[in-house]
Amino acid sequence: MKFYIETLGCQMNVNDSDKMAEFLVANGLTRCDDYADADMVIVNTCSVRFSAEHKAYSLLGRWKEIKDNKPNLVIGVTGCMAQYAAKEIKTRCKYVDFVLGAKDFEKFSKTVKRFLPKTNSSSLHPFTHSPDVFKYITIMRGCSNFCSYCIVPYVRGPEQSIDYNIILDEVKKAVNDGIKEIILLGQNVNSYSYNGVNFTGLLQKISALDNVTRIRFMTNHPKDLSDELIEEIAVNKKICRHIHLPLQSGSNDILKAMNRKYTYEQYETLYNKIKNKIPDINITSDIIIGFPGETDKDFEATFNASRKLQFGGLFIFKYSVRPNTPAAKMGNKVPLEIIKKRHTLLLEDSNIISKKINEKYIDNTIEVLVERYNAETKTAEARNSQNIKVFFDSDKDLTGQVVNVKITKVLPNSMSGKLQ
Ligand code: 5AD
Ligand code: SF4
Repeated sequence: MKFYIETLGCQMNVNDSDKMAEFLVANGLTRCDDYADADMVIVNTCSVRFSAEHKAYSLLGRWKEIKDNKPNLVIGVTGCMAQYAAKEIKTRCKYVDFVLGAKDFEKFSKTVKRFLPKTNSSSLHPFTHSPDVFKYITIMRGCSNFCSYCIVPYVRGPEQSIDYNIILDEVKKAVNDGIKEIILLGQNVNSYSYNGVNFTGLLQKISALDNVTRIRFMTNHPKDLSDELIEEIAVNKKICRHIHLPLQSGSNDILKAMNRKYTYEQYETLYNKIKNKIPDINITSDIIIGFPGETDKDFEATFNASRKLQFGGLFIFKYSVRPNTPAAKMGNKVPLEIIKKRHTLLLEDSNIISKKINEKYIDNTIEVLVERYNAETKTAEARNSQNIKVFFDSDKDLTGQVVNVKITKVLPNSMSGKLQ
């Protein structure tokens, strides 16, 4: 029996999908890369923007056509959209076999068991596929920040930190399996707290473990990123030189309406503090364009912030109305035409900035961890500590190794060079 999982949305979902795959493999199923070959297909959904929901429904539409000719096909829907729109999915897509929301993720094994071939427990074999280079480890679930545009606190529930003993066990297992890089996940890792251990404490505990060489984390909230954490990153060389620090808007009026709990000036002070304490850090950010009430002046403030701060990378999202959020009820919606125009203006400008920032790497030889190898094209995909993708040609598969590459070419979001 073969299964296929399509993952939409954030790294948290990638992590949950990995866990589902691990369970299915342990129950004798094999993973396939083409849903047309599968006997069980699962879409792990995202609800952060309307476009992600649309993607899930069109995929389900295509799977229905397959199921018409292959009635035994098991179709499952998991994740955030499955959490808050379970009823709608069940009415719109009657052919779906199970719907399991993000909050009920722990019930996955129970839910799918009835679709799996009967095996006696002794024949269960452990997770055997070759180890990946990095592993996502969820350290917190949910979010209690209630940014006014965001659906996450409603679908994933309140913020909950996971027991650090469980996290440490997961890290130990990962490095024993050959994982080279640990990526800690939470909607706001800066507010991690379990039995008196905060996020800095957790980082210290993880980096003290044998064989842990590289640690990343995401995502941060400017209101909670502490001086103590900045200090720890500065001195702890196992922590990668990258901080994703969503700004969302450069206008104080919009930040207030978004319920972000900081002003642009506070953000800028924090940003400069990080840059001064950790000179080789790469700071990336998220921006939402077209939040209700965003005027030309508000947009100008965001545009100027992007020019002034010079992010290493910027993710720019068009505001998407999410049901039941406070922003959904706000007046002064920005027309889509204006959102598109502002989006293009900022995207073009920020791409020039990111490219210029990457240009400082030209002719430099940098250390990268190889993540993937394409044997057909003989190209390798790697990442440096600053989280920039680096491509290079190689005759050998160097996946999992740290190698030196001399950078010859840069793009806004990636670079390429020669293996040294
Ligand atoms: N519309 C557009 N973008 C959103 N994000 C969250 N909610 C919305 C929404 N309703 C963006 C934020 C967040 C990123 C993960 O997604 O910028 O940081
Ligand atoms: Fe959403 Fe804000 Fe929580 Fe991030 S911090 S998940 S944007 S509510």
